[in-house]
This record gives sequence, structure tokens and C-alpha cells, in this order.
Amino acid sequence: MIRRHFHDLPVEARQAIADKAGPVHAARTADGGLNSGVAAFLDTDHGPVFVKGIPANHPQAPAQRREAAINPHLPRACPRLYWHIEVADWDLLGYEVLPGRHADYTPGSPDLPLVAGALAELQGITAPTDVPIKAAEQRWATYAPPGAAALFDGDTLLHTDLAPHNVLVDDRAHIIDWAWPTRGAAWIDPAILILRLLEAGHTLAEADVIAHRFPSWRTAPAEAKVAFAAANAAAWEEITRADSAPWKASMAGHAVAFHAHLRAPVLGNGPT
Ligand SMILES: Nc1ncnc2c1ncn2[C@@H]1O[C@H](COP(=O)(O)OP(=O)(O)O)[C@@H](O)[C@H]1O
Ligand SMILES: [Mg+2]
Repeated sequence: MIRRHFHDLPVEARQAIADKAGPVHAARTADGGLNSGVAAFLDTDHGPVFVKGIPANHPQAPAQRREAAINPHLPRACPRLYWHIEVADWDLLGYEVLPGRHADYTPGSPDLPLVAGALAELQGITAPTDVPIKAAEQRWATYAPPGAAALFDGDTLLHTDLAPHNVLVDDRAHIIDWAWPTRGAAWIDPAILILRLLEAGHTLAEADVIAHRFPSWRTAPAEAKVAFAAANAAAWEEITRADSAPWKASMAGHAVAFHAHLRAPVLGNGPT
């Protein structure tokens, strides 16, 4: 979706934001991220606020509503949601502004232990039952080998979109952009992180070593990991068919390679 600026919002929406956040002195459009219609940092009478907005009838609006619903259940390192309003056909979220920059996932980056620490904290969170989030089993059912999706079942709150632009780093890492919260087996987030590490230049073996920091990944049944890698590869292939952006093709390539790696007995499925 095209990124619009704060001042492109209808006047009624800007007024509603000012009613919540205080009169707006300055607005700067965020440069990271890909999905939101509006993503802007505002300076207001009451302090800074990050506003994320999407047309209320947009196909991704339900994802933004999920993001709002899950916020109270997130670890403290995630940004607090101050308000959620729907006005002038826009769905708008007002967040605490976090300091920090996008995480650097390249091999040897000092951010990697911080990212692993934030994910380790998340691994301990049970998905709430009073928020309508998808189960991993459902979410990847059509991509998984027949009968295998049940292996993805679990109670952990998963982020499932651990791209480096969805992690802000200062003296620790903060996981943001909760559009795809999912309930499932804890090892799924490490599996998702692996693809992003490959994209950042890690070898398959190096990425697997980082995933092995997580007890969930170390103890997950090999059969489940292979099934998920197959499902994730199929999901990325579908994404690539719908949109030929080079980074998506690259992610699909990593997903296929990772699946092959896990299936290779010597490299992927040895004792852990
Ligand atoms: N609470 C926040 N504090 C500071 N920066 C943020 C915050 N939330 C998002 N950002 C910045 O805005 C970008 C886009 O936000 P994100 O929630 O990832 O939306 P999108 O759905 O567009 O990817 C992020 O990559 C990050 O740079
Ligand atoms: Mg994002």
C-alpha cells in the first residue's frame, strides 16, 4: 500500500487525533515498514505519538484491529497503544514512540543477542484467549503437508513477522508491528526468524545455530519443524506469485533452502 502523509488524512480524522493526542505541531512520515496507509510521528502539546492508520474498509484493516486488540497482552518492551479510533473512514492507532533504530540482522551484529533476548521474553507469553487471533494450525493449514498442520498447535503468543524493520533497538530490542499475532507452538517464531537471518546474509548453519538458543527450537520434533518449513515455503511461493517484488522472491528462495536444509539428515535433523 502507498504510504500517505499525516496531512493527507481528512480534516475530521486529523481533528479527532488532535482531540486524543493534543494539538499537532509537526508530523514526519516513518520511512520503514510497508503496509500502513499512514505511519507518522507527531509532535503534540502532550508529547510525541506514533500514528498508524489504514482506510477502515481496506482488506488489511482487520489486521490493524487485531494489532490493537493484542496490545495490552504484549511484553512491556513493546510500544503501548494510547488510543484506537475509527473516524472519517480511517482506522487509527496512537502509539507510544519508542527510541531506537531498526535492528541490524547481519552476521556478527551486536543487535543479534538483543533480538534473541526480546524473542526469548516473548516465548514465555501465553496467547490470550479473549482476543480473536488465529491459531498457527489454521493459518498454515492450506500450505502444510496433508495432516501436518496439527503439529503447529500450541499456546504461545507468536509475532510471525520478525523482519528487521519490525524490531527497534536501543539498549534492548523492541518487537513492533503486531499485525499477525498467532497462537501456536513456541518454536514457530524462531523458525520465522531464521528466514530473516538468511535474508540478512547468514548461512543456513549460522541461522540454525541462532535458533538453537531457543529451548523451544531445540526441543521441537524434527517432523514438526520440517512440516512448518514446507508450509512456510509454500506460503512464500504464493506471496511471490501474487507480487514479484525481488525481496519476496528472495524470501521464497530462503524458505525453500531452509526446508531442504532441515530435511537433510546430517545438517538439519541431528541430535540437538
Ligand atoms: N511505537 C513506535 N515507535 C517508534 N517507531 C515506530 C513505532 N512503531 C512503528 N515505528 C516505525 O514505523 C515503521 C512502520 O511501522 P509498522 O508498525 O512496522 O507498520 P507497517 O505495517 O507499515 O510495517 C516501523 O518500521 C518503525 O520504523
Ligand atoms: Mg512493519
